Amino acid sequence: MNFSKRVLSVQPSATLAINAKAQEMRAEGENVISLAVGEPDFSTPEHIVRAAQKALDQGFTRYTAVPGMPELRKAVAGYFHRTYGVECAISQVMVSNGGKQCLYNLLQALVDPGDEVLIPGPYWVSYPDMVQLAEGTPVIVPTEPEDNFLVKTEDLEKFVTSRTRVIILNTPSNPTGCHYHQKQLEDIAGWAISRNIFVICDEVYDQLVYPPAEMSSLCKFWQQHPHGVAIVNGLSKTFSMTGWRIGYILAHEDLIKALSKIQGQSTSNVCSFAQKGALAGLEGSFEMVKTMRESFARRRDLALDIISSWKGAVCPRPDGAFYLFPRVDAFYNARVDSSTKLCKALLEKEKIALVPGKAFGDDRCVRISYAVRDEVLQDCLQRLGDFLAGLRA
Ligand SMILES: Cc1ncc(COP(=O)(O)O)c(C=O)c1O
Repeated sequence: MNFSKRVLSVQPSATLAINAKAQEMRAEGENVISLAVGEPDFSTPEHIVRAAQKALDQGFTRYTAVPGMPELRKAVAGYFHRTYGVECAISQVMVSNGGKQCLYNLLQALVDPGDEVLIPGPYWVSYPDMVQLAEGTPVIVPTEPEDNFLVKTEDLEKFVTSRTRVIILNTPSNPTGCHYHQKQLEDIAGWAISRNIFVICDEVYDQLVYPPAEMSSLCKFWQQHPHGVAIVNGLSKTFSMTGWRIGYILAHEDLIKALSKIQGQSTSNVCSFAQKGALAGLEGSFEMVKTMRESFARRRDLALDIISSWKGAVCPRPDGAFYLFPRVDAFYNARVDSSTKLCKALLEKEKIALVPGKAFGDDRCVRISYAVRDEVLQDCLQRLGDFLAGLRA
């Protein structure tokens, strides 16, 4: 078959691929443990599930408005107001199939063939491929573990050209868990705006920042620069609702109209009864989010305690999400000389699944997700430490 250059230019998602491999091994009877998951290990809160069930019982099963039910858009605006003190109208928010579709729509709306998009690396796996699907050029700006993998304007300056059109920021980050402080974030956004570079800020993990660290966001900054910024968020990570596919966006109303046009010609609205569940989530109690945050903070500490005993690994102490991204290339040997080979050998020998750092643009590292029970995390990391030491022997 003849495929378009567009589809040939993209890779299947590496995180989905490793989880599929782990599932395949499990189906063959192997006892595989996955630290490769990108979703919280909690159930969606009861009141959200009940709201969706009620919507189904009441026959709420038809098309809704493409950018989302007005009452859900109002609840999204309410979330931004309560959380970040931002005044916004429902014409400035929109609901899509996950943060993923928000990002996809945005890049389709903003990027022309040949436009360059700055992406600090390590980055979430889908950004470069989404840029390529928009026929743009992803430009990766590398960062270092010693800087908590946070990009600085001096780094960005080296990669700007006359074709630079967009920058994608992500805080807290997948895969590193590190997050920008409010001033750092606004400094970078200010730098971009002054060069006419549009800022996309992916804040899907905003609720998963562990005290005493504070949440940061470009919402307020958006209010001052509505033409130059869009905020992406969603319910997947906040309420453990990854399968529901609810994401939302805050942007200028002209941009919302453009995104709505794209969504109207592709998927149309998000599943009607999932929107009812989302409404109950945004308008209800956030108590469960607090419980999740506390569990993740505890597991982060537990994991870092073990990792600190791996002589040669470098791992920043992240303040959010549920990932660690240690640099482990000091353990590479003649046979295992890349993150992909390391993860493959680990899966075969120890039956532990991790995602190779290469998928996120840094082949020196591996991504560990701690969205698993404490005992499982502890056991896997101890075995991983022994495995790494064994590579050196
Ligand atoms: C940084 C980041 N952005 C966006 C997404 C998309 O999430 P969803 O489409 O489930 O909202 C993810 C999912 O893993 C992510 O890690």
